[in-house]
Amino acid sequence: MARNIFGLDIGTSNIKIYCSERDEILNEKNIIAIANKKDIFAVGDEAFEMHEKAPSSIQVTFPVKYGVIADFANMQVLVTEFIKKLSKGGKIAPADYYIAVPTDITEVEKRAFLELIRDSKIKARKIMVINKPVADAVGSGVDVNGAKGVMVVNIGADTTEISVMSLGGIVISRAVKFGGNKLDEQIIGAVRKKYNLVIGAKTAEFIKIKLGSALPMEEQFVSVYGRDLVTGLPMAREISSTVVYDCLIDFIHSIVDSIKMILERTPPELASDIIDTGIHLTGGSSGIRHLADLINNETDLNVVISDEPSESVVRGIKTIIEDPEFTEIAYIPKEKIYD
Ligand SMILES: Nc1ncnc2c1ncn2[C@@H]1O[C@H](COP(=O)(O)OP(=O)(O)OP(=O)(O)O)[C@@H](O)[C@H]1O
Ligand SMILES: [Mg+2]
Repeated sequence: MARNIFGLDIGTSNIKIYCSERDEILNEKNIIAIANKKDIFAVGDEAFEMHEKAPSSIQVTFPVKYGVIADFANMQVLVTEFIKKLSKGGKIAPADYYIAVPTDITEVEKRAFLELIRDSKIKARKIMVINKPVADAVGSGVDVNGAKGVMVVNIGADTTEISVMSLGGIVISRAVKFGGNKLDEQIIGAVRKKYNLVIGAKTAEFIKIKLGSALPMEEQFVSVYGRDLVTGLPMAREISSTVVYDCLIDFIHSIVDSIKMILERTPPELASDIIDTGIHLTGGSSGIRHLADLINNETDLNVVISDEPSESVVRGIKTIIEDPEFTEIAYIPKEKIYD
């Protein structure tokens, strides 16, 4: 029987795990609910339901911040729970693990991704590392092994990772601390100021998905509930897309500026390849309406959004595991890494 293999993309907002035995991708909120400071109360999507609603005895937290593991112990619990969920009869059997690791972080931060598995109760027969931007490119169907330069921009929840690759390797990769969470925060601030309404992060995300746009559009409204700042009572309000556009646009433009900055730093031969190959947008936040049009207007480059952009990295891991053409992309991590 073939070995079971797990492939992991541990994001700030969502964790994605591919399981070869089930040929399935788990995609859940990367969040944990702990009761009385020690008992696991809920994990993943179930814990997210409790987010911003739980009593003070239940702590609901995201263990990854800005793409790096900020709370190692809880992240380890989450990974173990999700692997259990994907394992036959809930029993974790020895398996191979492929982990996507961000590029633009310190060696210590990179090592934490491996230690999550290596120093846990999970029995790993083999742990392999894949550079996250390369997995992302493979998952987007980009020819990373070719000699032509390609650019992939992953806009996630807390980070935007902009990478230029060729011949299966990374030429330049920069992560900026910007993503969908910042947009949600902006919406919370604007709704409070313009409508005297206090809303939570989930409502802000709902408004962003319904009304957020990178280009001006005809005014639309959505109705949301929140707490009125003056009366303190729950209240419904119609939120305008113009208010949303005004509060997001500077942040959205900062993504475009970062892309331009990386293009300026790209060696000229590769930069001219990108004129042919275009910019590939991935990550959940690339779903912002008209973002591809804005980037295209500002750079004159062709911009393509990958299918199911939030799962592009994990899809790439699956391909790297399965397709012999890509096996060399995964590597065994160095045992001793000093920072
Ligand atoms: N249709 C959409 N429009 C705008 N934003 C969206 C849409 N769908 C999802 N998002 C946003 O995408 C983000 C999640 O994307 P993703 O799963 O790629 O992030 P992550 O991998 O967890 O984060 P990171 O890569 O920063 O660690 C959230 O901020 C979510 O609000
Ligand atoms: Mg991500």
